[in-house]
Amino acid sequence: MHGRQGGRQPVALAPSILNSSDLTRIAESLAALEAAGADYVHLDVMDGHFVPNITFGAPVVASIRAATRLPLDVHLMITQPERYVAAFVEAGADILTIHVEATYHPHRVLQAIREMGARAGLAVNPGTPLANAQELLPVCDLVLLMSVNPGFGGQTFIPLTLQRVRAMRGEIDARGAPVLLEVDGGISARNAGMVRAAGADILVAGTAVFGDERGVGAALSALREAADRV
Ligand code: DX5
Ligand code: ZN
Repeated sequence: MHGRQGGRQPVALAPSILNSSDLTRIAESLAALEAAGADYVHLDVMDGHFVPNITFGAPVVASIRAATRLPLDVHLMITQPERYVAAFVEAGADILTIHVEATYHPHRVLQAIREMGARAGLAVNPGTPLANAQELLPVCDLVLLMSVNPGFGGQTFIPLTLQRVRAMRGEIDARGAPVLLEVDGGISARNAGMVRAAGADILVAGTAVFGDERGVGAALSALREAADRV
């Protein structure tokens, strides 16, 4: 039995505003997410190098920080994240997540994030062995398992992720490590229950939240219900 059972926490939802239809109206999206009870705002930072796509940088994160009280879950899909972690912590990231594949020295970068006062997250691509992250659990506050190849919203969930979530959950619990487990990519009400049952604490969702024509509130309710149904 692991820590989440018994006094199990409800699932946490981290909507990604990457898929919000109109970035000039981001304040409206943030207000809608607050009203709907989102637990975090997930911000996808892409550099056109680590991933094919380019999104936004620290100045936009700082503007979002000023526009919402929700915790900012900043996902850096950039090479050499050590060059930018200070800028993103200063911009207001509460959780700052780097990719294990993006730096030679993830242990050092994770420590630096903590020393700067943010929670340190480590993201792992679908093709990367989990062992690469397991050694780093003592310096992680969060592990983010990618369930798509990063770069774009709206991709299809990779089913193999489920066994990776189970394995990482087991490793975290076996160590008694206070590490949150987040899953990102292609999450919808159709798979949220399985991802949650496999051991995820936090679900990221872009398309399932902002592409739901019933609105953000109904989308978050549907995800919560699907995730915690069992
Ligand atoms: C993928 C990003 C995700 C993505 C989520 O590179 O890290 O956060 O935007 O969007 P959906 O839920 O549409 O896969
Ligand atoms: Zn993301």
